[in-house]
Amino acid sequence: ATRAEYRIDVIAGDGIGREVVPAAISCIDTLADKHEFRVHWQHRDWGSDYYRAHGRMMPTDGLDQLAKGDGVFLGAVGVPDIPDTETLWGLLIPIRRSFHQYVNLRPVRTLPGVRSPLRGGDELDLVIVRENVEGEYSEVGGRLYQGRPEEAAVQESIFTRAGVARIARYAAQLAASRKGVLTSATKSNGIVHTMPFWDEVVAEHAGEVRLDSVLIDALAARLVLQPSSVDVIVASNLFGDILSDLAAGVAGSIGVAPSGNINPEREFPSMFEPVHGSAPDIAGQGVANPTGQLWAGAMMLEHLGQPAAAAQLERAFAAALADGVRTADLGGEAGTEEFTAAVLDRL
Ligand code: NAI
Ligand code: MG
Repeated sequence: ATRAEYRIDVIAGDGIGREVVPAAISCIDTLADKHEFRVHWQHRDWGSDYYRAHGRMMPTDGLDQLAKGDGVFLGAVGVPDIPDTETLWGLLIPIRRSFHQYVNLRPVRTLPGVRSPLRGGDELDLVIVRENVEGEYSEVGGRLYQGRPEEAAVQESIFTRAGVARIARYAAQLAASRKGVLTSATKSNGIVHTMPFWDEVVAEHAGEVRLDSVLIDALAARLVLQPSSVDVIVASNLFGDILSDLAAGVAGSIGVAPSGNINPEREFPSMFEPVHGSAPDIAGQGVANPTGQLWAGAMMLEHLGQPAAAAQLERAFAAALADGVRTADLGGEAGTEEFTAAVLDRL
């Protein structure tokens, strides 16, 4: 058989992104040897240093360059001295939108050796399917009369039939492959135009699964009180963003949570990243937990058609954690390199 080859664009970005991305690459290269595939890593120095030098987060033809690859592997972007709106809207959001990565997939599971801060949180195993390109995070709106007493700000939400239908179909398929129950996050009692529309379109596309529509505020409480009562959640951009950090917190640490920005039709590359940011408070110290980046790497391998390698990587970091090798965020003493070495040993 011919060896599968992939070209992956790497944007390590800022802060701890530069520490956890190399850790994940060394694990994936080790797996590539064992599973007979090859990854050509195309390193991109895009991010805040690039912004300081060029006044933009990536080159003008950056998206065209990425479009030729099989996937994007991102660390994190963001630094204290550049507004997050610049870093986010200059790189991440353009990639998500122009590559139609309309699914943001966020599995949340309590890993061995990681303690949930909550009673009952230790059995957590759910997936959040967040709509990733429309909804509340829209460019429609503006600021009027800046600095004056009558100053006003308007921000519109955009929900389209096509956009809600496709995220609902994706989530329903995933729910069907798991427990057959789909929880939809809504707020149709307070947000009276877009959310009833969301409810209708989700219901039309939920297929055979049991659909449980839950108001977002009650759902937030439920994730804390009975986290194992939900399995697959479908949510709008904003609700999904908040719920996934909440769920990651319930699972014990934001440092272990992964996320995939997926274009299911594969017309464009998909992008895989940890949920956490650049963590300026611990950057450069070699103490960051690489698990979120490793798990994101496993999701990427799965997407590329290497499910055996993906499963092996997940087993390896779970085993390292179970054996007590832990970084400081999980109450351990291992640094990034020591934890990565422990994962490599188990591969
Ligand atoms: P953050 O996730 O970077 O950090 C929050 C807290 O969690 C910090 O105390 C940090 O030390 C800790 N933490 C995060 N990841 C960790 C890891 N792997 N190991 C150990 N501890 C970890 O969120 P924050 O502080 O709100 O944002 C920092 C910067 O990152 C901002 O500029 C923000 O915009 C950006 N950001 C970027 C994201 C991305 O590139 N996708 C996502 C979230 C934030
Ligand atoms: Mg977030």
